[in-house]
Parts: sequence; C-alpha cells; structure tokens
Amino acid sequence: MAASPASGGARSCETAEQTREWMEAIASFLGRHRPLLEAHVVNFFKDRLWEMVDADWMECLRREPVESLLMLPSGCVQDHWPSSLQEFILTARSLVLPREQKSPKSFLPNSRVASIGTVLAQGMNSKKKHEIEALSGMVDAIARSRGAKTVVDVGSGQGYLAQALSFEYQLAVIAIDASSHHASVTNTRAERIKKHYAAKCVEKQQFKVPRTVTCHVLSSDTLAAVVLDACQDNHGEHVTESNNCNQSSPQIGQPNHSIPQLVLAGLHACGDLSVNMLRVFVSCEQVQALVSVGCCYNLLSEDCHEDTDTSPGFPISNAAKSSKLVLGKSIRDLACQRDGEASPRKWPYKILIYMPSEQLFKWDVLCAENKSACA
Ligand SMILES: C[S@@+](CC[C@H](N)C(=O)[O-])C[C@H]1O[C@@H](n2cnc3c(N)ncnc32)[C@H](O)[C@@H]1O
Repeated sequence: MAASPASGGARSCETAEQTREWMEAIASFLGRHRPLLEAHVVNFFKDRLWEMVDADWMECLRREPVESLLMLPSGCVQDHWPSSLQEFILTARSLVLPREQKSPKSFLPNSRVASIGTVLAQGMNSKKKHEIEALSGMVDAIARSRGAKTVVDVGSGQGYLAQALSFEYQLAVIAIDASSHHASVTNTRAERIKKHYAAKCVEKQQFKVPRTVTCHVLSSDTLAAVVLDACQDNHGEHVTESNNCNQSSPQIGQPNHSIPQLVLAGLHACGDLSVNMLRVFVSCEQVQALVSVGCCYNLLSEDCHEDTDTSPGFPISNAAKSSKLVLGKSIRDLACQRDGEASPRKWPYKILIYMPSEQLFKWDVLCAENKSACA
C-alpha cells in the first residue's frame, strides 16, 4: 500500500539553534551520499554509477511503475520496499524546507494587481506577463507600506518590471543591468510606452521613464555604491549611465537625507546577484525592503579566496557556514533541475537526483522587510 506524500519535516527555523540543527542534518545527509551527488547526471549512465546504489533498491525500483517512481520526491514510499530505501526517502523529505504557496493578499492585503496592457506587455510571453503583473503589484504595495517612492530593479534585463513600476504605479525606478544592450532596449521601449501613456492621459500628467545604469555587479559593496549613487541624484528624466562600478560612493549605513528611502527588487536575479541584494538590504539604512525572485542557483559562487575581499554567494547563512556544508558545482547543477521536467521519458535520473540540496538556497519570492531577521 502506498503511503500518502510526506508533508516535510517537523523541523523549524524558529530559533537559531533549531536552524543550526536542521542545517547540520542536511549536511550530514548530503555527506553520506556525496559520490552520487558529485557526479554529473550524464556520468550516472556513462560511468555506471548506478552500481553504487544498493542492489536491493535497484531490484525493487526496477519493478515499480513509473507513476510511483514519480512520487518519490514527494516522499511517497511503499510498504514492501526495503526499509533502508524507505528511510532514505523519508529522511530526504523530512529535510526539505517548507514551500507552501502563499497568496500575496494574505501578507499584503492592500496590494492591487494592475493588468498590464498590450503596449507595456510587448515582447513578453504569457509567463513573463503574469510574473510582471504579480510582482509589480507586490513591489508597489511594499514600497507604499514602507514610505518608499524609489525602486531599484537589479538585473533588470529589458526593463519589463521597471517599466511596469514606472508607468502603472508612478514609482521612480532605477534599472541596473550588466548589459549595455539591455539598457538601450529598455530606454527605447520606455520612450515608446511613455508616448502611449501620454496620449492616453486626459490630464497633463508627467510620466518618468526608468533611469538605466549599466554595471556588472560583482559584490555587495559595488551594488550598494551604485544604488546609493544613482538614487542620490535621481531627480530628472533618465540618463543611461555606464557605471565603472568602482567609484567612491555615499557611505553605506550612514543617514543621508539626499538619498530617498528605497526598495530593492529583482526578478530572476541570477546567482550571486540575489545574495548581494540581501547583503545590501541588511547593510544599507536607506533600503527599506527587498523583493527578490532568485534564479540560476548553479551560478552561485562558493569558494572564498583569501586574496580577495569578495564573499562567496554560498553559504550565506551562519547556520550553513557552521555546518561546514560544501556543495560544489555538480550539486548546484542538480539542485536546479526542475521537477516540471520529470516525465516518464526522462524519469530515471530525475528521480535519483532529487535531494534536499535544492532547498538550501531556493526561495520563490523572497519579501523581506525585517533586516535583523535576515542578518
Ligand atoms: C534572467 S535575466 C532577468 C531579466 C529581467 N529581470 C526579467 O525578469 O525579465 C537576468 C539579468 O540579470 C543581468 N545580470 C546577471 N548578472 C548580473 C550582474 N552580476 N550584474 C548586473 N546584472 C546582471 C543579466 O544581464 C540579465 O539581464
């Protein structure tokens, strides 16, 4: 008889001690299965890594229908499976961090989601349009609740989020991206959208386009310097700046009344970019809130070379640091496999690699307003 999906652990992050225990349990579990985790998926087949898997497990799983194999990541075990296999699956499941879906309305009761029209949505596919509608409403509600009128969109790409915030919500927006091509696409799009909004508007209303800054952000210090500098003189229409990312900047953490209160936002901010946003949120007095959808966790840096001042992207938490957890590239790659790809045609390796490692650094939408909780 099949058990129902295990609901995840009875573990908690309520206290630092509980968090540390959880991280240590994850580190110890991953440590026991290191050889499999460190192998690239292809090597599982090429180098016959399946021979490392317990022969009883292989024998039992070979006979199972694909449907029950697809339920493995949800912690569904069968009574007739070897007890060591059941224990492995249930332990993995118990270590998963909670990821219940929450409706934005439950924690942002005053948010409104503006449906974006065809001009603003030009170039977006339906997934992107949905993301921009939901996220811009959320960022606007958080900015209003924190008294911030400026939003910095980090890793802004072609400026979809930045433009929705500027035109639909009339926020002052700074769009930072490493690519100067993205800055010029953002500016061209913004001018076109501005004309459309101006023509639609009966009363004379001023629409501000986002200000674009080109900078390849490689550390939280750089990000803080660029954000504060751009906000300090963000008075007029946009200027595209190619920021050398090394300039001296207003002092982080110092009260500076010429710098407005601001919200940091990022949609699919890759690898270390999300981590650097978190660090800037914690260290900068002017940053009132952070709304981030992380992305490309495989690109997180991990090594800390003593000859540089840059901190690695992983681990970020003290609990993970104290558990001496090291991931490595293969684990990070495995952690980024999407469950949506688990189809019967692809099932063999998807199932075998599903480990709680993905939960170590994954957040879906991280909304943070409490700096001390993040620090
Ligand atoms: C996945 S795209 C997301 C773009 C946009 N936010 C969206 O959702 O449409 C990530 C963007 O971040 C930018 N990016 C990646 N790493 C960066 C870095 N270190 N500094 C600045 N921009 C970066 C890339 O150029 C790219 O435009």
